[in-house]
Amino acid sequence: MSTLVNKSEFPIFKNRKLTYLDSASTSQKPKVVLDAMRNVYENSNANVHRALYDLGSESTELYESSRELIANFINANSSKEIIFTSGATASINLLAYSIGSQLKEDDEVLISHMEHHANIVPWQQLVKRTGIKLKYLPLTGSGEIDLSKSSELITAKTKIVSLTHMSNVLGTINPIKEIAKLTKMVGAIFIVDGAQSVSHMPVNVQDLECDFLAFSGHKMLGPTGVGILWGKFELLNNLDPFLSGGEMIEKVTLEESTWNEVPYKFEAGTPNYVQAIGLGAAVKFLSKIGMENVHNYEKELTSYAIEKLQSIPNLNIHGSPKNRGSVISFNIEKIHPQDLAQFLNEDNICIRVGHHCAQPLLETLNETSTARASFYIYNDFSDIDKLVDSIKSTISYF
Ligand SMILES: Cc1ncc(COP(=O)(O)O)c(C=O)c1O
Repeated sequence: MSTLVNKSEFPIFKNRKLTYLDSASTSQKPKVVLDAMRNVYENSNANVHRALYDLGSESTELYESSRELIANFINANSSKEIIFTSGATASINLLAYSIGSQLKEDDEVLISHMEHHANIVPWQQLVKRTGIKLKYLPLTGSGEIDLSKSSELITAKTKIVSLTHMSNVLGTINPIKEIAKLTKMVGAIFIVDGAQSVSHMPVNVQDLECDFLAFSGHKMLGPTGVGILWGKFELLNNLDPFLSGGEMIEKVTLEESTWNEVPYKFEAGTPNYVQAIGLGAAVKFLSKIGMENVHNYEKELTSYAIEKLQSIPNLNIHGSPKNRGSVISFNIEKIHPQDLAQFLNEDNICIRVGHHCAQPLLETLNETSTARASFYIYNDFSDIDKLVDSIKSTISYF
């Protein structure tokens, strides 16, 4: 199997001996992304949309062309629909605050038992502020969203449905288009948490038929501190801003303020323009490889890993084997995931253990902690062989 990228394009793999299997948490960065950010600081650094000199025009141009690259990457109608936030969590909080303030006490928000805390807690906070009801779609025994009760849960009272595209614990890829149709039938807003999907598969917002999409830059080869909220222009235009101050205004008097146009009305303060430019470079890098190729490559890696892991006695993989992305959660009888992680660490293998910021999901699995291996374009079969060998020697130690 030939790899999609050369590991040497990622400086960390030259500097450290690593079998990095924690990309669902954060990805490693190719040199082109680091160079793009270094280039801004060394050659074009000035605050964006403010400075009336050449340097400022250059940084603003780089920032806005990054917005354009990201708009094309997800097939948005226009770059005006792309808001730079600090990450998926910030994007969902923005929505929970801004759309949430338009909801009334009897209105309902529907999420699922599969969500990351980033798509649970902001809605629970909204319940506290407004008294709306928060409801949950349950899961089937094999870890898929159970739509058999959807007609009881998606009703005229439902104003927002907010679901993850791909589970960060089970790897399950949810039937977003099917749920979009159910959501539209009752006229609710449909939000997709794309934190785990946009980095690993083609995501086309027109095709998904969602209203908003939230995702993080650092999980898709980009830097930390930048993420995206995409939304349909008319919907964004009708929302109040979440944070205020800086250039998000049209006019400020001592009595009141009016707002700048979308997307700027949602970008209060000095934006994270260097990171946004870094994310643009990451998107260029991924586009060159092709997201269909990324998805297919990871499917091969994941099938290989599942086959190998399944051959280990007493190792239980969570979730359904079909329709899944490159995330595998598992438990081994009588070995705590934390002990496993420490043993793997001795072999320079990085996996994540714990509740993965999805405690309600772990509860449905009857676990408090799982081990999770997740893959990306820089992994190959040999990384999986190393994981499997190290798990086997841990088991033999215990
Ligand atoms: C499904 C999902 N949603 C949201 C988030 C939050 O992303 P961030 O921490 O980058 O804001 C994560 C992070 O792991 C995630 O996996």
